[in-house]
Amino acid sequence: MRTRLFTIIALFVPFLGVAAAAPDKAALMKRGQVVFNEYCKTCHQANGQGLGTVYPPLAKSDYLKNTPMPQIIKEVVNGKSGKVKVNGKEYNGVMAPLPKKYTDDDIASVITYVYNSFGNSGPVVSSADVKKHKKK
Ligand code: HEC
Repeated sequence: MRTRLFTIIALFVPFLGVAAAAPDKAALMKRGQVVFNEYCKTCHQANGQGLGTVYPPLAKSDYLKNTPMPQIIKEVVNGKSGKVKVNGKEYNGVMAPLPKKYTDDDIASVITYVYNSFGNSGPVVSSADVKKHKKK
């Protein structure tokens, strides 16, 4: 009996560890929407459709889809400027660095939100990903 109980515990402990470490997509999406509406929306607009010739779309953005996630993290955190082609249209603007008040968790949330909203389907980003890739 003792050994059996031990076996059960031994099987469950690693499982719980994995469950705790895996990012919670629903929570990231919820927080991500708040950060998006508070900050990114001003330029990229509520439905991620962008604005005119200045702010590129995030909705179905081929750039977002084809650029590796570490690069997207870097650009959102540190800003981005220069020519960029999104869905066949060229933009040449400046995205300022993200205000310092946003935590790694906020950043993971907003990027997860963008990756999985507006008709996009992309990965879930964890705060560990952000920590690892945000440096220039
Ligand atoms: C002040 C305006 C502004 C804000 C706020 C802003 N961006 Fe941008 N963003 C831009 C501009 C301008 C570009 C294009 C930069 C260039 O020409 O290289 C851009 C480019 C991008 C791109 C790559 C191009 C594309 O359309 O796929 C992504 C991804 C992106 N922004 C995500 C975000 C996210 C996420 C936030 C919020 C955390 C955000 N941006 C906030 C102005 C902004």
